[in-house]
Amino acid sequence: MTDHDIRVLDDSQYRTAHTLFRGTLHHPPAPDDTWKLAQESYEEGRALGAFADGEMVGTVQSFPSHLAVPGGGVVQHGAVSRVGVRADWTRRGVLSALQRAQLRNMRSTGDVVATLRASETAIYGRYGYGVATRYRSLTIDRRRAAPRTRPVGRVRLVESEVGERIARELFDDLSPRRPGTISRWPAWWSLNFRRSTAEDNYRMAVRSASPGAPDDGYVVFKVVPRDYGSSDSKPTTLAVTDLWARTAEAWADLWLFVLGIDLVEKITAHGRPLDEPVPWLLGDRRACQVADEDDETWLRLLDVPAALAARTYRPAEPVVIGVRDTYLPDNAGSYRIAPDGVTRVDDAPELVLDVDVLASTYLGDVSFTTLAETRRLDVVDPAALERADALFAVPQAPWCGTYF
Ligand SMILES: CC(C)(COP(=O)(O)OP(=O)(O)OC[C@H]1O[C@@H](n2cnc3c(N)ncnc32)[C@H](O)[C@@H]1OP(=O)(O)O)[C@@H](O)C(=O)NCCC(=O)NCCS
Repeated sequence: MTDHDIRVLDDSQYRTAHTLFRGTLHHPPAPDDTWKLAQESYEEGRALGAFADGEMVGTVQSFPSHLAVPGGGVVQHGAVSRVGVRADWTRRGVLSALQRAQLRNMRSTGDVVATLRASETAIYGRYGYGVATRYRSLTIDRRRAAPRTRPVGRVRLVESEVGERIARELFDDLSPRRPGTISRWPAWWSLNFRRSTAEDNYRMAVRSASPGAPDDGYVVFKVVPRDYGSSDSKPTTLAVTDLWARTAEAWADLWLFVLGIDLVEKITAHGRPLDEPVPWLLGDRRACQVADEDDETWLRLLDVPAALAARTYRPAEPVVIGVRDTYLPDNAGSYRIAPDGVTRVDDAPELVLDVDVLASTYLGDVSFTTLAETRRLDVVDPAALERADALFAVPQAPWCGTYF
């Protein structure tokens, strides 16, 4: 018997949940105009509350989305957010109860995977979430950069309202090309994109191969100018906040565009893919400092058989992996993975791992060999590591690129 119970929230309880969550991040309640936008992001059946003594003391939520997996497929995905337990109720098992209910709830609605961004790395592994994508930050000294090449297409500045429409259309088309990317739900655009681009100094530029050709990429950026009246003023800095392109030509043209903007001294780009080849565009590659490689996506495989079947595998001999899952025990068992598909088997596993460790391999971010070296999995047959690495290998680093 616990001293709290978990319930699915209805729309009369969303604002209380929102205020509770903000309080756990030490923010005051949202003002009415912000709440109006946030309200739209509450989806029926996807917000849960923990109740004790007749009050809400904890909450979790998820947004409906899709996640791109290796091979070009997408799976139904719950983007977990607004996780918080009131400070006077922490460390009494409230989050664990919410997680248990939420994992089952998402799986029952057909979500194959869930992802989140972790405020602290110690929290989510126990619930089966593993780091599945990472990102990094770039800082470029623009005056030293000396790009090696010139644009081949046309980049034009657009106003924010037109820009949002173009970005939404392009994003849905462009993003699933890279495993780890997720679809952005309608309220993401109004809460995250529209709110930031409505601020002063945000600009957006769109690229096409030639004037009048279809748009094939966009960049959103913000410039903070130097305060020339101050003796210790910071350099004029351009921050790239969202950049997506269909082709390598479009990608290079968008970077060349921001590199070419006058009176900018520093360019920053946070949360970019690990394999984005910006330094190779530059005449002086040391003008680009790469920093802050960090965990991005924490992934939870809710339906292991469906998730394994949704991605493709590279040519290699099959491997049998054994999966442990305490929170969703239906997932536990042996899976034979081969280029022509995945089957559940009774065979003895060659590698045995917890579901959070499998999540880290799922999009190809880390190899089985690395995880074995760091003692994160049990190796029954050492020869299986090479086969598993070959099967799960991906040509591009997985990356999400959408903060929520
Ligand atoms: C993080 C948070 C939701 C945890 O809620 P909680 O109800 O205290 O968690 P539980 O009591 O269910 O803890 C479950 C386990 O996780 C551990 N844990 C929970 N939060 C932790 C933290 N921040 N750091 C380290 N361990 C943590 C607990 O010690 C416990 O371990 P045990 O099972 O070995 O005993 C809560 O502390 C909170 O709201 N923090 C501020 C907001 C926040 O960070 N939200 C997450 C946004 S991603």
